[in-house]
Amino acid sequence: MSEFILFAHRGASGYEPENTLSAFELALAMGARWIELDVYAVDGELVVIHDDRLERTTNGTGFVMEKSLSYLRALDAGKGQKIPLLREVFDLVSDRAGINIELKGPETATPASALIAAAIKERRMKAEQFIVSSFNHKELQRLKTIHPEIRLGALVSGVPWRNVRFAEKMGAYAVHAGMNIVNRRFVANAHRRGLKLFVYTVNTGEDLERMQDMGVDGVFTNYPDLCLI
Ligand code: G3P
Ligand code: MG
Repeated sequence: MSEFILFAHRGASGYEPENTLSAFELALAMGARWIELDVYAVDGELVVIHDDRLERTTNGTGFVMEKSLSYLRALDAGKGQKIPLLREVFDLVSDRAGINIELKGPETATPASALIAAAIKERRMKAEQFIVSSFNHKELQRLKTIHPEIRLGALVSGVPWRNVRFAEKMGAYAVHAGMNIVNRRFVANAHRRGLKLFVYTVNTGEDLERMQDMGVDGVFTNYPDLCLI
């Protein structure tokens, strides 16, 4: 049986400011085998932040995509942390964990693919260390064209996607689904098509048990120590 995966969602974001190096460092210290993060492309760099606006997680204002990289990098993303660059997260994680890169912003597949290719070549990271996911399935298809060996996670949220044929057709590795749409039929449908099913966001022991009972392959959690609390 393959290993059940706990993805540290935006790092150990239940304890440290989400999507910051300190959240990723803590996740690793807690023994997380995988981390999840969200990226936008700004001035030729991939920056790690979840919302399209800055107010919730930083001391900045306005839209991420309307700012310069230098403006974004001067912000406080919580407890004095900066908004990280994806390349800094690669430096931190190195070969210690897998990284699920969620493409949030437009035009992120090409720079993400380039950065992954460089990491594999220059940092000795492995293709199996990456899963690239997105709600934007066109971006995923673009990534597949550029870098076919990178595993893709097709994200679905509130819509009742009972049938995940679309993910099989796009050659995805996994479906990443919101917890509220997961049931046994959904799990069976994904598995029948050879897809893994990873579920977000699972922050209580009760939900974790329920998901494990249904046979999902892993969950995203803000508490990578969830099994222990
Ligand atoms: O990748 C799983 C999950 O992160 C997707 O939703 O909004 O938390 O990025 P969100
Ligand atoms: Mg995400």
